[in-house]
Amino acid sequence: MTDSAQSTPYTTNNAGVPVESDEHSLTIGDTGPILLQDHYLIEKMAQFNRERVPERVVHAKGGGAYGTFQVTNDVSQFTKADLFQPGRRTEMLARFSTVAGEQGSPDTWRDPRGFALKFYTQHGNYDLVGNNTPIFFVRDPQKFQDFIRSQKRRPDNGLRDNDMQWDFWTLSPETAHMVTWLMGDRGIPKTWRHMNGYGSHTYMWVNGGGEKFWIKYHIKTDQGIDFLTQADADRLAGEDGDYHRRDLSEAIASGNAPSWTMYVQVMPFADAPDYRFNPFDLTKVWPHGDYPLIEVGRMTLDRNPEDFFVHIEQAAFEPSNLVPGIGPSPDKMLLGRLFSYPDTHRYRIGPNYAQLPPNRAHSAVNSYAKDGPMRYEPANTARPYAPNSYGGPAADTARFGEIAGWEASGEMVREAYKLHREDDDWGQAGTMVRKVLDEAARERLVSNVSGHLKNGVTPPVLERALQYWRNIDKKVGDQIATRVNGA
Ligand code: NDP
Ligand code: HEM
Repeated sequence: MTDSAQSTPYTTNNAGVPVESDEHSLTIGDTGPILLQDHYLIEKMAQFNRERVPERVVHAKGGGAYGTFQVTNDVSQFTKADLFQPGRRTEMLARFSTVAGEQGSPDTWRDPRGFALKFYTQHGNYDLVGNNTPIFFVRDPQKFQDFIRSQKRRPDNGLRDNDMQWDFWTLSPETAHMVTWLMGDRGIPKTWRHMNGYGSHTYMWVNGGGEKFWIKYHIKTDQGIDFLTQADADRLAGEDGDYHRRDLSEAIASGNAPSWTMYVQVMPFADAPDYRFNPFDLTKVWPHGDYPLIEVGRMTLDRNPEDFFVHIEQAAFEPSNLVPGIGPSPDKMLLGRLFSYPDTHRYRIGPNYAQLPPNRAHSAVNSYAKDGPMRYEPANTARPYAPNSYGGPAADTARFGEIAGWEASGEMVREAYKLHREDDDWGQAGTMVRKVLDEAARERLVSNVSGHLKNGVTPPVLERALQYWRNIDKKVGDQIATRVNGA
């Protein structure tokens, strides 16, 4: 609003009341004490003191944008999920991130990248909260907290510590595949636009006839895969800590909207028990030769958030947001995550986080939830309980009530998955080193690992690390050892 005396809007307090000054506190004379009745000064100070919500405990540094997902192929024989039906276009939000660094940390640190997607479907929000890697470091949620602590800062000196990272990795051989990935070229993407996303876990799809399938998502960049060398990443970390955030924002602002093509691998439900290794083990990929990629659709990010805090900082992605036609799998990591994310959102943002703009469903929300801090949507019904006789919502058990589940029985145990014939921790990492990387990429891997090990990793962790690499690939392990023990 403007008044007749000036062309810009006049400042108001948060209640819309015009203020007397932007620059001077109310005092008794120009040297006098500040008056408590300067409630606008108090509002400014109090508001400022409350500007932050806690940063995400992991994936704190990131950026994102809105866009659209367009189905390009008919996969309705595998899933009835609304967003994957032929021809469907669905509004979506994406957020990319590093894992271990804090809010202000450089985008170009070597780390996996988060690849979190939220689809505003006609049956509620579907969140696919993946990484730029098809695998992960550990396979039991019991180990996630320990793993993350080994990657973050030490409590005594507040420093990150390579020795601590390798200590955990070498004591947890299931990390080998992911560590090989991380230390290779894809551990530092050129930009977020130049990396793939993966659902990583195995998920379940259910079709209209109730038939179930196990699937894995692959979301491939249409810009082409590209990476930064360690030297370029180190330089950029100093020159522009927000290099990736800036790149995405500027690309979209200049009309250069990035896109990705989504594919799935589909395993018939009955194949799982007899597959040659555990298909729910998050440290392994399904070889493309066994289950080829089937195209699903294309996502395009073309709208920058109008307010970073509102739309990106307060975005709450949660693997538990699964819509009819999509379910979890016996992957224990995924099952752990179903609890963890809504729990952290209630703490980080507040219990009514689902009402905020980035998290609000675009379809009807007929929940019985009510009240709580910062709630602004009225309760859905004046009779906030089910069942009720006054027209409150009732579950549509015929249409949506299927349980996307599987059979399970047995004693309660604390055990690793029962081993399948080809289950081991080193095999797929070795395949990547020997068959996927070319000579130049292998040389960069050796250089990245030896550079990392030479930076503060000491015996006995160092010896274990060299053996770890020999277990992955004898030749590469020996090359790393020569590099570490040499100059
Ligand atoms: P394929 O030869 O069919 O697949 C190899 C895949 O590796 C490529 O399609 C590409 O996947 C990915 N890739 C290429 N270069 C690199 C790199 N520098 N760093 C990481 N990944 C790269 O073989 P398999 O499916 O039998 O898999 C062999 C190995 O390849 C696995 O052990 C795994 O380490 C790796 N891999 C496999 C994937 C899978 O889902 N099967 C996915 C990615 C890697 P993309 O097109 O997805 O980038
Ligand atoms: C963020 C927990 C494994 C991808 C987070 C957050 C928590 C968490 C608490 C912060 C969320 C927030 O504050 O909004 C866990 C636990 C895991 C696990 C307990 C294992 C048991 C994984 C795996 C992946 C993953 C395997 C990828 C496949 C992400 C992503 C984010 C995230 C992308 C950032 C989401 C965003 O952009 O807001 N995780 N995580 N996590 N996690 Fe995990």
